[in-house]
Amino acid sequence: MGTVVAPGSAKPTVLRVAAISGSLRKNSWNHGLIRAAQELCEEFIPGLQIDHVDISNLPNANPDLETDGGDSFPPEVEAFRARVLAADCFLFASPEYNYSVTGSMKNALDWASRGSVKCWADKAAAIVCAGADFGGGRGSLHLRQIGIYLDIHFINKPEFHVRAFDDPPKFDAEGNLTDAKTRERLKRVLLSLQAFALRLHHKDE
Ligand SMILES: Cc1cc2nc3c(=O)[nH]c(=O)nc-3n(C[C@H](O)[C@H](O)[C@H](O)COP(=O)(O)O)c2cc1C
Repeated sequence: MGTVVAPGSAKPTVLRVAAISGSLRKNSWNHGLIRAAQELCEEFIPGLQIDHVDISNLPNANPDLETDGGDSFPPEVEAFRARVLAADCFLFASPEYNYSVTGSMKNALDWASRGSVKCWADKAAAIVCAGADFGGGRGSLHLRQIGIYLDIHFINKPEFHVRAFDDPPKFDAEGNLTDAKTRERLKRVLLSLQAFALRLHHKDE
């Protein structure tokens, strides 16, 4: 289940997913969503391969750190941009801070938006978030807005916002997703991302 064969091909297509959490917290729920997504892909969706891209070491976005006419970056930024560029699609696990994305998430989006190589452009993405009363839904709308200029194509359905302070608990103390229903919902998001990314991937065939 979950393995999709590309049109005209006998081999299943494996899509690389760059997964980015906007949290810097060690026991982050949003990191936990990415770990759960990795487990789900390993178990059920071999057509998706998740690369958890850490953004905690990125300097603050600053054009003064750019060289070579704006096409060279500090080593951490170069490494980050390479993983974004290598991805076929994106999974954003995006906490909501004051009704928007976190500063770290915005910083990462900004760094990979610089230079002549468009790292984000024309790729599919899904947003998942765990937060308070709206489950991070307002912040995810801001992320969609930022994605317009970056030319990211977000799946619309299913939406995935976890109200993590509500009972029953969805995460353990280390931020691992423990709720079976939420895990099943996450699986449907991944399958939707896979289907949409393949449609984009084969758009020229
Ligand atoms: C500065 C700050 C602002 C926050 N603002 C919101 C908010 O607007 N909406 C919300 O649902 N939760 C908000 N929260 C609570 C976060 O949802 C909560 O800290 C959550 O654990 C963050 O995700 P993480 O576990 O992946 O770090 C805020 C937390 C911080 C530290």
